[in-house]
Amino acid sequence: MISFWKWLAREALKQGATTPCYVFSAEPVAESLAQLEALDFGRPAIHWLSTKTQPLPSLLGWWRGQGRPAEVVSELEYRLVREAGFDTEGILVNGPAKHRWLPAVSGPGQQVNFDSARELDELLPLAKRDRWRVGLRLCTAEEFDPETPQFPTQFGFTPEEAMVAVRRLKRAGLAVETLHFHLRTNIAEAGCYARALDEVSSFATSAGLTPRFLDLGGGLPPRHALSRGGKRLDAGFSLEKFALAVRQAVKKFPSVEQVWLENGRFVTAGSGVLVVRVLDVKARRGLRQLICDGGRTLNALVSMWEQHELLPLAQRKGAEVLTAVYGPTCMAFDQFARKPLPASIRAGDCLLWFDAGAYHLPWETRFSHGLSEIWWHEGGPTTGQLARVRAAERFG
Ligand SMILES: Cc1ncc(COP(=O)(O)O)c(C=O)c1O
Repeated sequence: MISFWKWLAREALKQGATTPCYVFSAEPVAESLAQLEALDFGRPAIHWLSTKTQPLPSLLGWWRGQGRPAEVVSELEYRLVREAGFDTEGILVNGPAKHRWLPAVSGPGQQVNFDSARELDELLPLAKRDRWRVGLRLCTAEEFDPETPQFPTQFGFTPEEAMVAVRRLKRAGLAVETLHFHLRTNIAEAGCYARALDEVSSFATSAGLTPRFLDLGGGLPPRHALSRGGKRLDAGFSLEKFALAVRQAVKKFPSVEQVWLENGRFVTAGSGVLVVRVLDVKARRGLRQLICDGGRTLNALVSMWEQHELLPLAQRKGAEVLTAVYGPTCMAFDQFARKPLPASIRAGDCLLWFDAGAYHLPWETRFSHGLSEIWWHEGGPTTGQLARVRAAERFG
């Protein structure tokens, strides 16, 4: 993949790209999807694009072109996928506090996973009138705040709340078609899904539900990312064990027709690089410092908790020295990485920050600068079209 990205970054620069810029490609997305589609879940699997992860119109267009649907969690995402041509069938509405925005945009037959009793209070009349196809997001015991695991997340219904919701929907004449959970991101081991599925199955039995769809959300760890401490995020995760857990769980759900997945990071993390240019070089107290035109604050917040490959675009040989790589903002926080890099890297060189395809665009900032340029490639690994799809934001 390194040679693919170097080739693509060089092509973009040849065509006039200015740094910092993101270069994204559909090819790695297709590869990740193929990996997921090779798994046997015991029922047909539908892969929803997690729009929030990579809200890029070019990707949406490519995804829809493959006949795949999209999951959204906000009004802007909803409007974005509509503009990209997705129809009602191809859109799944998720996320908290939807009552604030969904009435303004929803239509008949909308597919919605409810998140709370308040949402039901506010949206049930509309859901009934427009015959929405509804699901419930369950907050299983497997869902907790990764930074403080003793606390749950803020999403979904507790089993007691969900029981009340099932009764309310039934009275309104709406069947619960989907049972949904999203545990968190970068799930460490497949057992988490197995345990959550057990809980969902017990809940369905006690609520007398016969769901048509099991929506397992996202959460699969991407293949290349390391924690800031250098540990592979997917070290303990087996895709085969994950599929096996799902296969075993669906046996308890004869009514389930499809398994739904909404993986963001796994599907798109490897689909882009960020290209930055070294503007200044310093050395102090044994540390070499590269100051670049893009970095963590503007382009790669993910570098706070993940280590990605960071390489010079040109061949830079010779001894490596401990080097810190910074963005251009006036914040010590704005540091991509501190690692050994060739001492021959100099001002004017381009550096590539890999795996920039998930959660980089949604967390871009305009801190002292404008948004960066974006390039998009699709149509084959060594050929295809590469085009600038967003210009750098200028003062005007
Ligand atoms: C409901 C839902 N589905 C899918 C995802 C995608 O998660 P990931 O990128 O970890 O696969 C998220 C992320 O927050 C989410 O909230």
